[in-house]
Amino acid sequence: MNVRTTGAERFFAPCPRGLESALAAELTALDAADVKPTDGGVAFAGPLTLAYAANLESRLASRVLWRVGGGGYRDERDLNALARSVPWGSHFHADRKIRVDVAATRSPLKSLEFATLTVKDAVCDRFRDEQGRRPSVDKRLPDVRIHAYLTDREATLYLDTSGEPLFKRGWRRDTEEAPLRENLAAGLIALAGWRPGTAFLDPMCGSGTIAIEAAMIAADRAPGLARSFGFQKLAWFDGPAWQRLKQKARDRVRPPPAEPSIHASDRHAAAVAKTRANAAAAQVEGFLRVEQADALSRPAPAASGVLIANPPYGVRLEDRERIAAMYPAWGDALKARYAGWTAWLFSGDPDLPKKFGLMAERRIPLWNGAIECRLYAYRIVSGRLPG
Ligand SMILES: C[S@@+](CC[C@H](N)C(=O)[O-])C[C@H]1O[C@@H](n2cnc3c(N)ncnc32)[C@H](O)[C@@H]1O
Repeated sequence: MNVRTTGAERFFAPCPRGLESALAAELTALDAADVKPTDGGVAFAGPLTLAYAANLESRLASRVLWRVGGGGYRDERDLNALARSVPWGSHFHADRKIRVDVAATRSPLKSLEFATLTVKDAVCDRFRDEQGRRPSVDKRLPDVRIHAYLTDREATLYLDTSGEPLFKRGWRRDTEEAPLRENLAAGLIALAGWRPGTAFLDPMCGSGTIAIEAAMIAADRAPGLARSFGFQKLAWFDGPAWQRLKQKARDRVRPPPAEPSIHASDRHAAAVAKTRANAAAAQVEGFLRVEQADALSRPAPAASGVLIANPPYGVRLEDRERIAAMYPAWGDALKARYAGWTAWLFSGDPDLPKKFGLMAERRIPLWNGAIECRLYAYRIVSGRLPG
């Protein structure tokens, strides 16, 4: 097997839209070169080993894709030739199970399904020509994921170094509801500018995603410490180098403080239990104080701090009415008890600011999947707000 050693591989890390600049800063801190945020992700360059660090350390990326080929194309035939020109056999073994995904913006190709088949066939044909055998396809549990991204004129081929998406940190057991994705939760914290040392509260914590991400930051716990990655199935995977990097990350994990300054609460006992169980699974329970409380009546846990919440957004009409009635009371409660705090509310409800009755200082557009949301920032002062 041919192990590539060039120091200038090209990567692309997709992320929730709205987090591109924050992700660019994160990748720059990991020594990535040529860091270029674009819509929905960040392009960057570096040695192959940068893929280890980016997967292990990025709190914001959804995946880390390694560019293995690409160029201009006009039709399926060009796409086939491009995909066939990649030396797949030097990147992974023929006994690996593969999955191909194609995404496109303004592609002239009529069918993405057919484009997917075209890429898959090209990969398998190249293997058969060179080795007399070909990888099999497994859409559910692939060893190796191949991504093709098509624009109007360019096709880019990537090998996915992440495998399962990076918001899966490897600790979540409970998946019955739809909690925030971990990288979006980490993105809210990055946009709010919260750093350990400042008090933190999520008073509507649900399963605890945001507070657990804050606790992982306070613990300096790498988000990928508890999981495996796609690059472990690629030919250039260097097990000892990876183990050394992981050990370094393990060694820097901080012990929990005597008195946690990260707080999470929810009015439902089931949510509190879930948050506790998830914090324990993420190995950060000592960084977090979890309580059952109503956000409208709970006192502030410190004289100043950062509150981040993803309040409920009712789908059914009666829920919407009940929730709409809660906001003005919550706004009043914050003014009465949280002077000195900054509250950041993440919501897909465009009417939230009207209901809340406070003047948002910032409104940051951010996508939760396909749903356009906003992160609203409120500086809480007692009585009426300025402006
Ligand atoms: C959209 S969920 C939060 C999901 C959470 N961000 C996660 O990732 O799991 C909203 C949460 O707010 C809680 N909630 C609603 N009204 C509340 C109130 N007045 N006080 C405290 N919690 C409340 C609900 O119980 C629910 O768990």
